[in-house]
Parts: sequence; C-alpha cells; structure tokens
Amino acid sequence: MSLVEHDPANRLWLLRTPESSYAFRLDAGDRPRHVHWGPPLTLSQATQVAARRNPADSSFDEPGDERQELPAEGGAFFGVAALAVRYEDGTSALEWRYDGFAIEDGTLVVRLVDRHYPLELSLHYRLRGDVVERWTSLRADQPVSLLRTDSAAWTLPRREGARLTRTSGAWSAEYGVLREPLPVGETTLTSRRGVSSHQVNPWVMLDAGDATETSGEVWSTALAWSGSWRITVEHTHTGRVTWTGGFGHENVAWQLRPGETWETPVFAGLYAADGFGGTSRRWHAYVREFVQPHPEELRPIVYNSWEATGWDVDERTETELAAAAAKLGAELFVMDDGWFGARTGDTAGLGDWTANEQRFPAGLRPLVDAVHAHGMKFGLWIEPEMVNPDSDLYRAHPDWVLHMANRERTTLRNQLVLNFARPDVADWAHQWLDRLVGEHGIDYLKWDMNRAFTEAGWPGGEAGRVWVDHVRAVHRILGRLRADHPTLRIQGCAGGGGRTDLGILARTDEIWASDNTDAADRITIQHGYGQVYPAGTMSAWVTDSPNPTTGREAPLSFRFHVAMAGVLGLGGDLPRWSAAELGEAASLVALYKEIRPVVQHGELYRLADPAKSALTAVQYVLAGEVVVFFWRRPTEFARPVTPPRLVGLAPAGRYRDQDGVVHDGAVLLSHGLDVDLPGSGYASAVVRLTRV
Ligand code: GLA
Repeated sequence: MSLVEHDPANRLWLLRTPESSYAFRLDAGDRPRHVHWGPPLTLSQATQVAARRNPADSSFDEPGDERQELPAEGGAFFGVAALAVRYEDGTSALEWRYDGFAIEDGTLVVRLVDRHYPLELSLHYRLRGDVVERWTSLRADQPVSLLRTDSAAWTLPRREGARLTRTSGAWSAEYGVLREPLPVGETTLTSRRGVSSHQVNPWVMLDAGDATETSGEVWSTALAWSGSWRITVEHTHTGRVTWTGGFGHENVAWQLRPGETWETPVFAGLYAADGFGGTSRRWHAYVREFVQPHPEELRPIVYNSWEATGWDVDERTETELAAAAAKLGAELFVMDDGWFGARTGDTAGLGDWTANEQRFPAGLRPLVDAVHAHGMKFGLWIEPEMVNPDSDLYRAHPDWVLHMANRERTTLRNQLVLNFARPDVADWAHQWLDRLVGEHGIDYLKWDMNRAFTEAGWPGGEAGRVWVDHVRAVHRILGRLRADHPTLRIQGCAGGGGRTDLGILARTDEIWASDNTDAADRITIQHGYGQVYPAGTMSAWVTDSPNPTTGREAPLSFRFHVAMAGVLGLGGDLPRWSAAELGEAASLVALYKEIRPVVQHGELYRLADPAKSALTAVQYVLAGEVVVFFWRRPTEFARPVTPPRLVGLAPAGRYRDQDGVVHDGAVLLSHGLDVDLPGSGYASAVVRLTRV
C-alpha cells in the first residue's frame, strides 16, 4: 500500500505512517483544508471526516469546522495567519487555484497559484518513519513582501480538553518541562534572539489532558530551525486547537525576489498513541534515522579543559591535562576558549583565529601531536559568528557586524555578531575554518555562539534577511566543512543549550546541552533535553565538586552516573583530583565504555519525573541489554520512596545483573529493582541487565 494516497473525486490526500494517518483536501475554492491527524484511517474513512459542521456557525466566523492546512489571510478567516504576503498594489488576501500535485522522491508536493498575481505556493509532505515532515515554498515573478511564511500549521481532532507541554528555561537552566492546560486564546512561544534559545525550545506537545508517560494520545511538532522562530497555538472558544510555526518572529518581513524560491525549514509532526514516553522514543528514532549525520557511530569520551583552566590555556597546561585525561580513558581532547589572538579573557581577540603566540609559540601542532600520540582525537573550541570590538578583525571590518545606522551597537559578553547573511563574511568564516581544520589535523570542533542578536540590521542590505540568511549560512558552512573533511565531528553549543534544534542536529554530532554541570540540576536539564532529542546527542561532563556554577557538592559517583546517561565527558581539574578519585573515575569511564552502546543507541524509558520525585531513574534498552540509572537527590529522612518499576521488558524474560543475580521480567515490571540507596543525601546506582 502506498504511503500517500489520493482521492481525486474528493480532492483529498491521505498520508500513512506505521501508526497514524494524516489527511487534507481542497475545498470548492481550492483552499487546502485540514481533515485528519491521528489514529490510522483509510482513504474512504478520511473522506467521512471532511466538511463537518460547526455548531456555532455565524456571520462572525468562518463557516464550517475545518481549519486551513496553511492558514492565510483571505475570505472569512480570522485566526493566526501562517502565510501573510503583500503584493505591490497593497492586496494581501490570498485566493488560490489548484495547479496539480506530484510525488517526487517520496515527497508529496501540492501546488497552488494565486488566481491573479504571479505567486506560486507549494505544500511539501515527507514521511519519515512515524513523522510527517512539512514545509512550504514560494516563488514569484514579481517582488512580493513576505510578512509571515510558516512551515506548516497543525490541527487536533476534537477532544475534550487541551493541554500544552513545552520547555521553559534560561542560560544554565535549559529545557524545563512545563505541562499546563492550554488557555483559550492564542499562546505564542517564540525566540527573538537569533538562536533557537535557552528560554524555550522550538517544539510543542499537545494532548487532551489525559496522556501520561505511558499512555494516551500526544500530538507533537518540532521545528528544524536554529534561529528566531515563532509557534502560535490557538484554542478557540468552540474547542478547536490549531498551531502554526516557522522561522522569524513578529515584525520581521522579507522581500521575495523575482525568480527566487523561498523555502521554509521543516516543521516535523508526530502523532503517538502511547503517551509522552512513546512520543519521546519516536522522536529519538526519527532523529537517529533521519536527522543525525552519523547515528551509527558511538560518541567518544571527551575531555574538555574549560572548567579546569578557564582562560589560562597554554601549551604546557593543555599537554599536561591531555596526559591526565588519556590516563582516565578519554578518547578526545578539546581545548576550549582562550587559545587564539589576544583572547586571554572575554574582552578581546574574538575574531582573530590564529594561535596566541605567547601561549603556543610553535603554533598548535605540538599540542595536536601530543594529543594524537596519546591515541586521542583533538578538538578545538571556536565561535565563528562573533567578534570582540577589541580585535584586529573588527578594526579592519567594523561594517561586518549586525548593526543599524545611527544606533548603538549593543555588546553582550563584550562581543558583537558578525553578519553571516553577507556572502563576504560567510566566505571569510568558511575559509579560515577550512584552513584551520585542514592544516592542523583537527578531528572535532566545538562550535559555540555566545550572545543573542541585537540591532539586527544590515545597512545597504535587506535587514529582515539577516534573521534567516545568517542561520542558513551557519548551516551551509557546517555542511561544507563536513563534506570537505569527512572525518571531522562537530559539537553544537550556544552558551550551552541555546541552539538545540533539529536543524543543528542535522549538521552536528552532539550538543553541549548546558553550561550547568551540577549533576543535581543536570537531572532536570537532561529530562527536558530527552523529550525530543536522543541521549546519544547529549554531551555531559563530570566536573569538580563543589560545582563552579552552583557551589553544590556531590559525590564523584553521582556526578558520573548522571553524565553517563548521555554522552559522557570529563571537564574537571584533574591535577587536583586525589589518587582515589582518579582511580574511581577511570573505572567509571571503563564501565561507561561497556554500556555506551545501550545508552547512546538504545530506547529511553523515563521511570520517574524529577519534578515530582527526589528519586529519579531512567532505563535504556538495546536488544537484550538493559541499563538503569538511579539518582536520589537529598531529601527528608524516611520520606517514602516508590521504587521505579522497569518497563519495556519481556514478562517471561529472565535478566542477569552485573553481580550474576537473575531477575524475572515479570518481577522487574511489577516491583522494580531493589537497589540500595543509603542515607538521605546524594545516592546513585547503575544496574546492567542482560537477557538470558
Ligand atoms: C560558552 C560555552 C562554554 C565555554 C565558554 C567559553 O559559555 O558554553 O562551554 O566554551 O563559552 O568562553
């Protein structure tokens, strides 16, 4: 059976994923109308859903109950426009004529043309496993102002109640999960910062208020875009829920140039009938199979020197740290900020990408060679989109930054943003990066981005374009570097998790999820990260205690056990660790290497919610291998603790743990594991089970 079916008589298309269906049709005026998104339906069943009556029909609302597939101004439409354009004569209402459809490379494309003006619109649908990817493209022969061009709009079937799940956060406190009833009216989630943002990640999950971690219907969508974005969820008085999303934020408009094709990023949608846990596992599968460049690889254990040295990097310190990291079993050594130009603090040098001559008198080569001699790969921190005003680059090219005539250039962290929408600036960045990687045998880049956009103008250029073209240039440079240096691996970072999205995950291998390395906070951060993004992309370091950001102390094993639930890395000041700590660290690194395939490639089950319980546990399953982490944060003495039950196991299966004890699947499923977490302070455990 085809994944895309068409009913020409009813002008309806049906898309089928393994466990869901998606349908839309054209109405008598050739407007695309949403029909169904949810449990599987056949083509004839979908036609029965179309054109339902709205009991509250009046002359003050759009007749009928159907929502538009990509809501646009024109006719009796009063909702949030996904598409808003203005022609040169001031007309903005859109009227379409259907121009056919095609299925090309597995993508359904439905074409519409404006009835009067030379504007063509294509709606794109691509099935990727359980996910429907959607995007929009526009083309015109005359200039057209684009006020809003969303990727897609999504509509829920009618349900009793509506609830919105999304993230809320800040720098060093990313991905906090918020789950609240959806208010009637319009709820907008947005980033105006030029990055996808620490404050709210570009995904939403909607349910009828009845889904749990393990059951119920959840509809979720995620934007593949690494810059400013907006998603507006509309909940009408009559109970309809629709949301629209895409790149850019309010008051950012673009000029469509004659002959240009304007293509939006992908907005991916997923329906799951098995709760928030099933939703996350499906997103993880999608990211692994269709987004990540090298999902089959195991991510190496990084040592990153940032928290150990701060700005005080030089050849001797880094070489010593590399030797200490190699002894613990690290596989990749990354030198962080402070190695180039006059960058001995955050006030100068950003933009001058040659090794600092006092710190590296013979250049980077000796350090790179020393790292390689330990059998480790070598990685380097870079922040290509930025410049300190106190730099040779800025002195030579003050016009290369985002700025506006007659306005201040607001510095944040003493830096300005280079305008990568300018082809000369993007070319400059690509050239030095290409040279740096090629000449020094660099295996890995940590691509950072440490401030939000302000005064995002471009005197002499088209201002609105910078919000889109800057990000496209970043994506393009990442793609070119990867293509030209096939063994190069890249970590995405924006002051931690400020630019975590499906767009950056398609071009990087892992994400530095947060600058906050405190293990207790990290449990919450990782819980939020994992709602959509898989553990095999989530870089997590073990650092010093007390933690430099929060001042809290936690045992080494606890810090390890938390970081081992993602891509384990090390970031402590190793020369200050005791022999006992180093010994314990080496054995935990060795343990991680054994369980790494299960953590990085397995299916994730969340056994407890860190917002509700001091005892949290996550479980990973890969074929017959199971790994469970238990973390207990400090709590009141004798507070009742519910032992988390395991999930995803065969009831009739038998599972041997690392001590040789065999457990019945049925017992683990109904009573969990009996782990010893003494006291009421920090405690943690990792249990490995193998099906026998
Ligand atoms: C950002 C990153 C950190 C570190 C510093 C260096 O904050 O997230 O990990 O690289 O920059 O300046």
